[in-house]
Amino acid sequence: MIQINELTKVYKLTKKQMMEHKTKKNMMKAVDKLSLTAKPGEIYGLLGPNGAGKTTALRCIATLLKPTGGDITVKGYDTVKDSEKVRKTIGFLTNEIKLDPQFSPKYMFGFFGRLHGLNEKAIEERREKLFNYFDIKDFEDKKIEELSSGMKQKASIAVSLVHNPDVIIFDEPTNGLDIITARNVTDYLKLLRDEGRTVIISTHIMTEAEKLCDRIGIIINGVLAMEGTLKEILEQTQTKDLEDAFFELFKIHNKEEE
Ligand SMILES: Nc1ncnc2c1ncn2[C@@H]1O[C@H](COP(=O)(O)OP(=O)(O)O)[C@@H](O)[C@H]1O
Ligand SMILES: [Mg+2]
Repeated sequence: MIQINELTKVYKLTKKQMMEHKTKKNMMKAVDKLSLTAKPGEIYGLLGPNGAGKTTALRCIATLLKPTGGDITVKGYDTVKDSEKVRKTIGFLTNEIKLDPQFSPKYMFGFFGRLHGLNEKAIEERREKLFNYFDIKDFEDKKIEELSSGMKQKASIAVSLVHNPDVIIFDEPTNGLDIITARNVTDYLKLLRDEGRTVIISTHIMTEAEKLCDRIGIIINGVLAMEGTLKEILEQTQTKDLEDAFFELFKIHNKEEE
């Protein structure tokens, strides 16, 4: 279970970032009083455009960023006060943390396995299972730098799951994957859900949210614009698909910003 209570994250901007953002303000509110709960046995999808605050929110859950306001618990553990315990229970996938280019998927898998306190036998069992499932075996000994982006993504996913985590936090998990591999990944997330794990993903792909997620939170400019099952969102917005619903909400929430 993940519980987010009024999470706010404000970044202090450097002069260079202020220029990039074309702003005179030296603060950037990336997430604004976000509250949500992701439960065991469900896939929660944080859906939003680029810059909405998805990665920031997920990094706060994963203890990599400290909230400016509000708090988050994972299985009852506070992500700031009990960050060590939180890190043990989560598997986190992000496109920002890259695997070391000099090492192989097999080496990285073992490295993170030992970091999580697994013995060699347990690591081998997990590797067997995950490398088979994600078809990593053929390139398990190649250097990461020699792999295609799809292969890297698969290796990152396997590594993030080495310790069989109860809570899975995946930031844009199908990013850069072909449709077959993407399906492979989303099927695995469903498997994890059906085992009763808590899964939260971010995505900007409407169809992925529609087909994969049990509940969807639409985030625009750091604000949770709406949340519910697909059916609930379509009912509340009186639209016929998620894309239409999204644009209805975008009209409202983008105006408020100005
Ligand atoms: N380290 C940072 N410093 C300053 N601003 C940041 C930083 N990381 C993200 N931002 C800004 O915060 C906002 C939300 O970013 P992000 O969480 O990455 O959104 P998303 O993942 O939905 O695309 C964006 O405007 C982004 O430019
Ligand atoms: Mg992102």
